Amino acid sequence: MYFYGTTGVNKNGHLEVGGVDCLELAKDFGTPLYVYDVALIRERARGFKHAFDEQNVKAQVAYASKAFSTVAMVQLAEEEGLSLDVVSGGELYTALAAGFPAERIHFHGNNKSREELEMALEHQIGCIVIDNFYEIDLLKSICIEKSTKVNVLLRVTPGIEAHTHDYILTGQEDSKFGFDLQNGQVEKALEETLPFDYFHVLGLHCHIGSQIFETMGFLLAARKIVEKMAEWQEKLSFESEVLNLGGGFGIRYTQEDEPLLPSQYVSEIIKEVKHLIEYYSLKMPEIWIEPGRSLVGDAGITLYKIGSSKDVPNVRKYLAVDGGMSDNIRPALYQAKYEAVLANKPLARANETVSIAGKCCESGDMLIWDLPLPETGEDDLLAVFCTGAYGYSMANNYNRIPRPAVVFVENGNATLVVKRETYEDLIKHDLPLK
Ligand SMILES: Cc1ncc(COP(=O)(O)O)c(C=O)c1O
Repeated sequence: MYFYGTTGVNKNGHLEVGGVDCLELAKDFGTPLYVYDVALIRERARGFKHAFDEQNVKAQVAYASKAFSTVAMVQLAEEEGLSLDVVSGGELYTALAAGFPAERIHFHGNNKSREELEMALEHQIGCIVIDNFYEIDLLKSICIEKSTKVNVLLRVTPGIEAHTHDYILTGQEDSKFGFDLQNGQVEKALEETLPFDYFHVLGLHCHIGSQIFETMGFLLAARKIVEKMAEWQEKLSFESEVLNLGGGFGIRYTQEDEPLLPSQYVSEIIKEVKHLIEYYSLKMPEIWIEPGRSLVGDAGITLYKIGSSKDVPNVRKYLAVDGGMSDNIRPALYQAKYEAVLANKPLARANETVSIAGKCCESGDMLIWDLPLPETGEDDLLAVFCTGAYGYSMANNYNRIPRPAVVFVENGNATLVVKRETYEDLIKHDLPLK
């Protein structure tokens, strides 16, 4: 079994994280429970930042808060000196409520509303990543109306397919995101934005996909964009101050996954960009990246209580837990794989293979297929690893199941950062017929 960060086995033979026994966490905060290893998040953040600092490259490491957006997480990102990527008014509101410096917030999204853009301008956020021609016109009209200047990046679709799951590809030509590089849309977008007095076009952005294990996709995207930057410098006198290569750095969900370290991704990207910039005699832009999953993914563990079981003779044994697709929809949505152990006896030898079912009324509500586990009984505690990204942030109330609580653990202390939803919470927006 591979343990991440501060996760290990304590003297009682129980799983512990951040110096706190997982059985204590389950007792104090209930289950299901999202537990975050704060030290590991800090280590990942510092890994990315340090790789840029080491080479004296001006950079921003923006945490893609869609991976896990809560007030405490945003504050942790601020403590670590990260910037922040938001994709909706809700994520922006969370960031502002957490006191995150507006000038380090970058606003993404392929269909930002007038209200969302107005909110961003009102708070003078760092930049808006313009996604399409509709948004250019909308943002122009708001800037004129409010006589407000804004920094913008243009999101480019570079036509690179990262080797990852089809559902989370975004960099290929056939994508709902961004201006296409091949068919001239980016150049047209530059022609429409550069002369506009209220825009400061900072540079270009791309995001080629998620859960990427090698650097080639990033390097190819950089090549395609920097080549065009040279062309646009000549033709449009446009000097890109920023090259944002997005997020998508992979993590190790299971033994089959072999990601690189943050420093390895970054150092190869820097090397390639420096080489290209020299080759085309351009000014070195700031390099921005937007890791989400790779900052918080393997720092998260979900604790579940095991309940019912069902044997299908000669087929499989199902073990059901007290959560499921309501707290982690990724297995149902894109066959995501996870590993898990029993938190009360993580080192016990596995002597059976079971499949972990959720409690939602949906056959597809399976968390893990074919997991080797020791014999389990009622009240055993299952710890599913690497649930820190797109778990809580995609949680839902299917079957009116309240969302679990979230706890941060560090140096032997556990801090509740999101309260468990109650049944009252579930109906608080419902109105009676009479
Ligand atoms: C524009 C953009 N940036 C960053 C990310 C973060 O990706 P990841 O969590 O895989 O690092 C995403 C994810 O969808 C994205 O769309």
